[in-house]
Amino acid sequence: MENAIKALLPASYPWKNRLICLPEVDSTNSRLKELARQGAPHGTVLIAGCQTGGRGRLGRGFSSPEGMGVYFSMLLRPDCPPQALMHLTCAVGVAMCDAVERIAGFRPGIKWTNDLVWGRKKLGGILVELGLDSGGRTDYAIAGIGINCHQQIQDFPQELRDKAASLEMAAGRPVSRDALAASMAQCLYEMDCSLFSGKEAMLARYRRDCVTIGKEISLIRGEEVRRGAALDVDGLGALVVRYPDGTVEHVNSGEVSVRGMYGYADP
Ligand code: BTN
Repeated sequence: MENAIKALLPASYPWKNRLICLPEVDSTNSRLKELARQGAPHGTVLIAGCQTGGRGRLGRGFSSPEGMGVYFSMLLRPDCPPQALMHLTCAVGVAMCDAVERIAGFRPGIKWTNDLVWGRKKLGGILVELGLDSGGRTDYAIAGIGINCHQQIQDFPQELRDKAASLEMAAGRPVSRDALAASMAQCLYEMDCSLFSGKEAMLARYRRDCVTIGKEISLIRGEEVRRGAALDVDGLGALVVRYPDGTVEHVNSGEVSVRGMYGYADP
């Protein structure tokens, strides 16, 4: 797998010798965090054949069966305070839409803030995690992405069948996991090159990809469920929501789960 992915990366990709593939890990994000603490460099990528404890946002799990998807994490070490990285999840989302489009021939949508979707169904998710140094500056950022690739509907557990899909279901043709992994690494490298200089252009692209904007949504914060209209995504990647009483709130992704009014991600 490692050699096949390296062979698919363009000659200009600078981090080929920072690519690690392992057959099985608990979570590529957790394992890469350990490598980051041991001094692994910017651009280190860890890809696993399967994860026994794949993690999603808000403490959820991410189903990561062997040979079915790409389970991928990239380590970044930007020299900036953590507040300057509020837009990182959005940037990773746009980069992943690019990566999928180049390999599978269609462009997924993004359900704010971090899910890749095809119609009403989830194709994959993004989990960005930051580590701070003792002075409160960014020590590392890990962009973790899981994308369902080869599954057919019967391969998903019963409870996910009306919510999940794979690239092959969406594209209607085979999709190579090695080619996708190489495309993900290249698109994240391109994202990193313009992470700060290209922020406004990236957010404009995010708004085009984001299927949540313009929808009636439910915001779930612990036990509280509140209806609202998703108006926009602001310059920090927060969702701008108007409630029925007319008040407007900029909602941060760390706090809430968003549902469409009629399902997981209304198209
Ligand atoms: C979500 O759905 O909330 C995000 C899912 C992110 C899953 C990926 S798989 C690779 C990386 N390692 C993890 O444990 N999680 C991310």
